[in-house]
Amino acid sequence: MQSMIPDYLDQVLHDVASNTSGELADYIPELAVAEPERSGAVFATVDGRVYGAGDIDTEFTIQSISKPFAYALALDDSGFDTVLAKVGVEPSGEAFNEISLERGTGRPRNPMINAGAITTHALVGAGLLPPDERVDRVVRGLSAFAGRPLTVDAAVCASEMDNAHRNLAIAHMLRSYGILDEDPRAVVDGYVKQCSVLVTARDLAMMAATLANRGINPLTGDRVVADSVVRQVLSVMATCGMYDAAGDWATQVGIPAKSGVAGGLIGALPGQIGIATFSPRLDSHGNSVRGVALFERFSSDMGLHVM
Ligand code: DON
Repeated sequence: MQSMIPDYLDQVLHDVASNTSGELADYIPELAVAEPERSGAVFATVDGRVYGAGDIDTEFTIQSISKPFAYALALDDSGFDTVLAKVGVEPSGEAFNEISLERGTGRPRNPMINAGAITTHALVGAGLLPPDERVDRVVRGLSAFAGRPLTVDAAVCASEMDNAHRNLAIAHMLRSYGILDEDPRAVVDGYVKQCSVLVTARDLAMMAATLANRGINPLTGDRVVADSVVRQVLSVMATCGMYDAAGDWATQVGIPAKSGVAGGLIGALPGQIGIATFSPRLDSHGNSVRGVALFERFSSDMGLHVM
């Protein structure tokens, strides 16, 4: 059975390869030079076995898939009460880059949209770290989830920062409400570095498997965050991870998940596996077209729907 998994993954990748719909993200110019045909899929089990097919060792930037992991680090560092006072847990039903702040309080609706993720980034390190050290803490934390040292892609980071008007505007709104209490540009700069961390589909599957394994990395055996933190993170992925496509995803795939605009997509099945796919063309929600198709197949072929 085990040796059949790569064949199965090859077959499913082959089946979705005819789908050339969707567009590369181009609001970050450096992402528009990605090779659109690349595709890969990886399963990582909670006992450390890894099965993959296609482009599983191609590096790309993590983008919004960093958000649940940075949220986990913020919860671990700052505690639930502090984080929940600043970032909600309700689906926004809006695009990832909408302002989506609660009326009156200015609290971002959830940590998966940009407004929430910019705030979450600032909560890593419990407000005790200067911006550069906070970025280090985030990169080291993401590395612990992946089980190997990760680095920041300086070119993608610079390209996004040159065009970060919308995230800067959101951060200034957050500052005006007192949700952020420091220089908005420094926080966006750190958040953009967080989004520019380079990963492979193999890394992402291991990061998802660490969530599936309740916070313990299956490869290294290290506890990265507390069990209670993982429960919170998976709940928010389940309700908000796919933005304004969250309802379609819940009904058609039914796995807690998170997407990124460089084409990555992860899903985590508690106690079982982490799944990651990579394919850069995106739908109108900013989710990978082939990634969504792959997850739909995995869910229906293997009965993985848990939501
Ligand atoms: O903030 C941004 O616009 C990007 N750094 C991340 C967006 C993203 O990946 C949205 N997800 N699909």
